[in-house]
Amino acid sequence: MNTFYRNSLCGELNASNVSETVRICGWADNRRNLGGVLFIDLRDRSGKVQLVVNEENQEVFATAERVRNEFVLAVTGTVKHRDQQNVNKALKTGEIEIEISEIKILDTAATPPIYIEDNDQSNEAVRLKYRYLDLRKPKYQKMLRTRHQTASIVRNFLDEKGFLEIETPVLARPTPEGARDFLVPSRVQKGKFFGLPQSPQLYKQILMISGVDRYYQVAKCFRDEDLRQDRQPEFTQIDMEMSFIDKDDIIAISEEMIARVMKEVKGIDITLPMPRMTYQEAMDQYGSDKPDTRFDLKLIDLSDILRDSEFKVFSGAVKKGGSVRAINAKGAQEKLSKKAIKNLEKYAQIYKAKGLAWIDVSDGEMKSPILKFISEAEKEAIFEKTNAEAGDLIFIIADSNEIVCTALGQLRLELSRKLELDLTDMYNFLWVTDFPLLEYDPEAGRYTAKHHPFTAPLTEDLEYLETDLEKVRADAYDMVINGVELGGGSLRIHNQDIQERVFKALGFSTESAWEQFGFLLEALKYGTPPHGGLAFGLDRLIMLLTDYDNIRDVIAFPKTQNHSCLMMSAPAEASLDQLIDLGISLDEL
Ligand code: AMO
Ligand code: AMP
Repeated sequence: MNTFYRNSLCGELNASNVSETVRICGWADNRRNLGGVLFIDLRDRSGKVQLVVNEENQEVFATAERVRNEFVLAVTGTVKHRDQQNVNKALKTGEIEIEISEIKILDTAATPPIYIEDNDQSNEAVRLKYRYLDLRKPKYQKMLRTRHQTASIVRNFLDEKGFLEIETPVLARPTPEGARDFLVPSRVQKGKFFGLPQSPQLYKQILMISGVDRYYQVAKCFRDEDLRQDRQPEFTQIDMEMSFIDKDDIIAISEEMIARVMKEVKGIDITLPMPRMTYQEAMDQYGSDKPDTRFDLKLIDLSDILRDSEFKVFSGAVKKGGSVRAINAKGAQEKLSKKAIKNLEKYAQIYKAKGLAWIDVSDGEMKSPILKFISEAEKEAIFEKTNAEAGDLIFIIADSNEIVCTALGQLRLELSRKLELDLTDMYNFLWVTDFPLLEYDPEAGRYTAKHHPFTAPLTEDLEYLETDLEKVRADAYDMVINGVELGGGSLRIHNQDIQERVFKALGFSTESAWEQFGFLLEALKYGTPPHGGLAFGLDRLIMLLTDYDNIRDVIAFPKTQNHSCLMMSAPAEASLDQLIDLGISLDEL
C-alpha cells in the first residue's frame, strides 16, 4: 500500500515490520496517559495498533494529549517490539507498537453517543440513528467485508458458468399478485404509478425469450410487508434464470454455488447433492415447509389409532377430515417441569391449537391429563407408534390438518429451544420440492399463487387445473437451511396456453390477464425456450455466514420495524411543490 497519506494499514502491521518507519491513519480508539507515557489505539478498516509516545518527545506528546476518542489522526512512527510483559495475544498486532515521531490531528470528534466496540450494549434505535458510528465497530466492518466477499464469489462462480449480469429496471409496473407494492407516482403521466419490483421475475423471464440463456443479478427487491427477524422491505436477491434446463440442472448449479460460498467464506464443506424432500413430506414430518432437520422431534400421525377413540376431541377431529398427531420428546421428562409443559400448551395455542395433550411415559405407569379418556389398547398403540420409552414426553394435538401441522411444527422448534439442544456447527441444507401451485386465500375468496403465477405446474398434475386446484403441484423448489428459507424458484410456464389456464385458475378473466400481463402473454408467442431459475436472499445468506439472527445486523443501512431509516429519518413528508408537480393532494382518509 502506498499513498500520499499512508503506507500501511494499522491491523496489518506485525513483528516482521519491526524497525520500519510507517505512516498510518485512523480513528483514536482509546487513549491512556500513564504519566510520562501515552498510549493510543489507532483503528482503521483493517484493525487496531497501539501507538506510544514518551513525554520527552514534547511536541508530539502535547498533540497526543489533546486526542480524544474518535479523533482522526495521521501518524508517522517506528514499529517496535513490545516488552514481553506487554504483549497482547488477543490483538493481531499485539506483539508490536508504533513509537510516534509525528502526529497530526486530521479532525476532532464530539463524544460518540455509543461505544465503538463489539460488545456495546446501546439501544438499537440509538445505534441505527448513528449507524455510521455503529458501522465503525470491528464486527460490522467484518460483516461488510463478508457481504462483499460473498457477492464477489457468487459473481465469479456465475461468470465461470456463463451467466450474464444484467440490470433490470427499478421503476417497473405495479403487480397485483404477491406482496404489496411500493408505488412511485409519475409526474409526467399524472395519476399513473410505477411499482418498485418485488423481484426481477418478469424481466428475467423476458430475457430468456430474448435469448440471453443465462442471467443473474444481485438485485434490490422491494416488498411492502410486515417485517420479521429475517425480512426487510428492501432487500437483496441473488437472482438467476436459465434456458434449456430442467429442475435438476438448476438445483445442481445453485447448490454448487452455495457450497462454494460456505467453503470459501466459512471453511465449511457441504456434502452434495443436498437431500430433497417433498412439500408433503416436510409438512407431514416437520409441520413446516422449511424444516429444521438438525434435530428429530418429528410429527407422528396417530389418526388411525384414535379414529374411534372415546375421547371426542381426538376422534371428532379425525372424523371431520383432520388428524391427531404427536411428537415424542425423548428423555424430556427430566428437563420439562409441569409449568414448562403448561407454557408449551400456551405456545401451541398461539398457533390456534385448542389444547395440547401430553403423556408422561414412565416405567409401568403413565401420567397424563387425558389418561381417563383413552383405552389401554390405544395407549399401547400410541406407545408403539411413537417408540415411547421411560423418560419420554409425548405431546399430542388434534384439529384440522393445517392447525395440527402448524402448531406441532412450531412446538417442535420451541421444544428444541427449551430442551437446549446443542445445534452448533450444524448446517443442514435441503431442498423442499413439489409445492402446491395454488393456495386458497379466504380473504380474497379465491386461489392465489403460492410462489408466483408464472410457475409451471407439474406435467402430471395439469389435468387437475380445471377440476381440483388443491391437487395441482408446482415444479418449484426452495433451498432450506436450519429452518430458514434461503432461496426458492421454479420452472416457468413457457407456453401461452398453460399460462392462460393458470391465470384462469387464479380467477383472472382473459381480459384482465391480458390487461395485467399482456406483455408477457404476447412475448410467450414468439418462441420461448423452456426456462427456470431461482433467487437466494443475499441478506439471509449473510446472516448464515456471520451467525447473526437479525437481518438488520447484516445490512449497512437497514429499516426498523415501522419501515424507517432512523439515520436519515426516512420516510419523510414531501414538499407542497413536489406534491403539486405529481398531482397529489393529501386528503384525510
Ligand atoms: P421469493 O419470493 O421466494 O422468490 O424470494 C426469494 C428469496 O428472497 C429472500 N426474501 C427476503 N429476504 C429479506 N426480506 C424479505 N422481505 C424477503 N423476501 C424474500 C428469501 C427468499 O427465499 N422471483 C422469485 C424467485 C424465482 O422464482 O426465481 C422470488 O422472488 O431468501
Ligand atoms: P379438556 O377435556 O378440554 O379439559 O381437555 C383435556 C386435555 O386435552 C387437556 O390437557 C387439553 O390440553 C387437551 N386438549 C384439548 N383440546 C385438545 C386438542 N384439540 N388437541 C390436543 N389436546 C387437546
